Amino acid sequence: MGKKGVLIAVEGIDGAGKTTQAYLLVEKLRKLGVKAEYTTEPTYGRVGDILRLHVAKMKKREPIYEALLYTADRFEHVKKVIQPKIRKGIVLVSDRYLYSTLAYQGAAGLDEDWLRKINFFAPKPNLTIYIDIAPEKSLRRIAKKRRTVFERLGYARKVREFYLKLARKEGFLVFDGTKRVEVLHEEIVSAIVKRLKRLGIEARGSLVSVQQS
Ligand code: TYD
Repeated sequence: MGKKGVLIAVEGIDGAGKTTQAYLLVEKLRKLGVKAEYTTEPTYGRVGDILRLHVAKMKKREPIYEALLYTADRFEHVKKVIQPKIRKGIVLVSDRYLYSTLAYQGAAGLDEDWLRKINFFAPKPNLTIYIDIAPEKSLRRIAKKRRTVFERLGYARKVREFYLKLARKEGFLVFDGTKRVEVLHEEIVSAIVKRLKRLGIEARGSLVSVQQS
């Protein structure tokens, strides 16, 4: 088979700090000599555009419609980005992935087995970083755009419960999203570098750099 990359998913509720931490992780891994790249869901592909431009702004939730669209977007993501990058031996950090659908659409009332079934084509991530935070805190951090804060708070609480259940079942690496950005970053890097080593990917001078950064 030759070289094989690693898929790392970064998950959490809105405002948990996923995007910041995913970017910082990729940057750090590159400094440590690891071929790392960032990717995100919803993607910037055709279905991703529909999701960001229209579905996110819909007043009423349509869980089945959302599940199918997020999954279709993931299908393109897997075929066009994830599989080719992993084949090239890249450590790919995905800002949201499969478990976003299980947590968000699961919290919207859909059956987990059905959600897993329609996502059968999506390879399981090798590692999943879950950044945990109370919705009261995370929603305060972000603009109150789409739905009303009240509606979003109740839903976010449910999404978090789903994530925490998945974290136990799937063995996510759980981090405290209330910590300072740099502190959280260091914790994530040291956990990931250790796991990458087990997967055969060595970070150059990793321990020294991790402790000093
Ligand atoms: P988010 O990462 O918050 O994107 P942005 O860059 O706009 O902040 O994702 C957008 C929303 O999509 C977020 O509320 C979670 C939701 N979502 C799902 O409900 N299911 C999914 O499968 C995915 C990938 C995202």
